[in-house]
Amino acid sequence: LGKDIISLTECHSTNDLAMERVKAKVAAEGSIIISEKQTKGRGQRGNQWQSEAGKNLTFSIILRPDFLDPTEQFDMNIAVSLAIWEVLNDYANGLKVKWPNDLYHESEGKIGGILIENSIGSRGIDFSVIGIGLNINQKDFAISGASSLYNLSGLEFDRWEVFKLLIQALEKKYMMLKKGGREFLRASYIQNLYQFGELKSYEDGEKFLGRITGITQEGKLIIEKENGTKNHYGFKEVTFL
Ligand code: BTN
Repeated sequence: LGKDIISLTECHSTNDLAMERVKAKVAAEGSIIISEKQTKGRGQRGNQWQSEAGKNLTFSIILRPDFLDPTEQFDMNIAVSLAIWEVLNDYANGLKVKWPNDLYHESEGKIGGILIENSIGSRGIDFSVIGIGLNINQKDFAISGASSLYNLSGLEFDRWEVFKLLIQALEKKYMMLKKGGREFLRASYIQNLYQFGELKSYEDGEKFLGRITGITQEGKLIIEKENGTKNHYGFKEVTFL
């Protein structure tokens, strides 16, 4: 990963640029587009991704996980979130992976997110664009519930050092996924999952108390309600309160 790095000062969205390269068939596996500023950064569920220019990391990696069936896409989310978690957790304690793939701190909030977009061909996932947004040195946030490594630790970080470690960790986890380490990755994901096993409030149309007990093969969140019923939730179907 990262033999080919395109480094920009500004673009609309590194995910959009990466996808354009995929569509134009000029994308090599492992290439990375990184930008100091995005004017139209995108998040999950159609949200915007806001990030102060020059303070954080916003980049996209192009991969070809043709060994994954489209029903196994979530395993890529798992590998990527774990790789990021491992690197950031060395800098700031108490970080968790919040389902599906946020980097989250219980009291400080969200410090990073992942947006994976696939191009599906006749034989399954043809290309995967892995978009990563991490708040590193940003101090002030317009939206509540967002934070950064700086706010967690009081330290400023060398972003290129963090970037280098991230690429190494991502490559390792990607190879692990490729070589059949899926179950191991799933188990580590569960181990670092925010609120796993704890009795907490959620909302799925109505408020309820329940415990996260796992994830399904396709990555749905399994929550056992207080009354014993177990539900599987897709991305937009449950809110953490
Ligand atoms: C989320 O909603 O949590 C996912 C955020 C993903 C943001 C990154 S920043 C680099 C890449 N380019 C984008 O437009 N989005 C992703």
